[in-house]
Amino acid sequence: MSIQVNRLSKTFAPQQGVVLEQISFTVPSGETLAVIGPSGCGKTTLLYILAGLQEASSGTITINEQAQGWADGRSAMILQNFGLFPWKTVRANIALGLKLRRTPERVCRQVTATLLAELGLDGLAERYPIQLSGGQQQRVAIARALATRPDILLMDEPFSSLDAMTRERLQNLLLSLWQQRKLTYVLVTHSVEEAVFLGRTILILSDRPTRVKALIRNDEFGLPALRTKNCYFDRIRQVRRAMEV
Ligand SMILES: Nc1ncnc2c1ncn2[C@@H]1O[C@H](COP(=O)(O)OP(=O)(O)O)[C@@H](O)[C@H]1O
Ligand SMILES: [Mg+2]
Repeated sequence: MSIQVNRLSKTFAPQQGVVLEQISFTVPSGETLAVIGPSGCGKTTLLYILAGLQEASSGTITINEQAQGWADGRSAMILQNFGLFPWKTVRANIALGLKLRRTPERVCRQVTATLLAELGLDGLAERYPIQLSGGQQQRVAIARALATRPDILLMDEPFSSLDAMTRERLQNLLLSLWQQRKLTYVLVTHSVEEAVFLGRTILILSDRPTRVKALIRNDEFGLPALRTKNCYFDRIRQVRRAMEV
């Protein structure tokens, strides 16, 4: 599903000033967008508005050519701090969205088993989140988001609390999941490297009042072994320069 955001603005309270000011971008169906910007500029707010959890003050969001206001129904969100329920097992956490949609138990079991295998979580189904590493917890959160087969995946700094090695492994995992499923995703990050590794387009936001500073096409996105290639480092330099302006 494509996402088209047109002149989206958000003010929480007039005395707080404008948060998002006339933000526009397009994500074609099956493509990816990385959003990068300073802390407090409104990245989480932007994702919440896309997810329909908050309302825009003005502007439009068009999903698959339909001006419906947000990515209703067919989207899933992955949060920075995983957002797992501590009192539910891994299996129950993954099945949560399916249960909410009243999916039969047999189907829940089937989908959960497939995702456990796909995300390297075999043998952990009956554990509780606290019994898992950070990387494993985030893989459960990814599995939960994928369980309902979303067309749009919204991710808010999903890997930022993980150590560098785990982060790279999960970035690789996300890329391969995208390559298999061709879903449309928006990834918020504060890492330039992550934006270049995971975004076909990179949206750079300014300080508040937050505007689009640059939209950079990242044509090498998805190339095998991208992290070892010169074009990857060139792109990182380009993004860093664009952020400094
Ligand atoms: N529900 C809210 N009510 C009032 N102000 C908010 C609310 N949510 C976020 N803000 C403010 O909007 C700005 C952007 O917040 P946020 O989207 O969390 O930024 P980021 O994710 O880029 O760090 C911040 O100044 C924050 O205090
Ligand atoms: Mg945030």
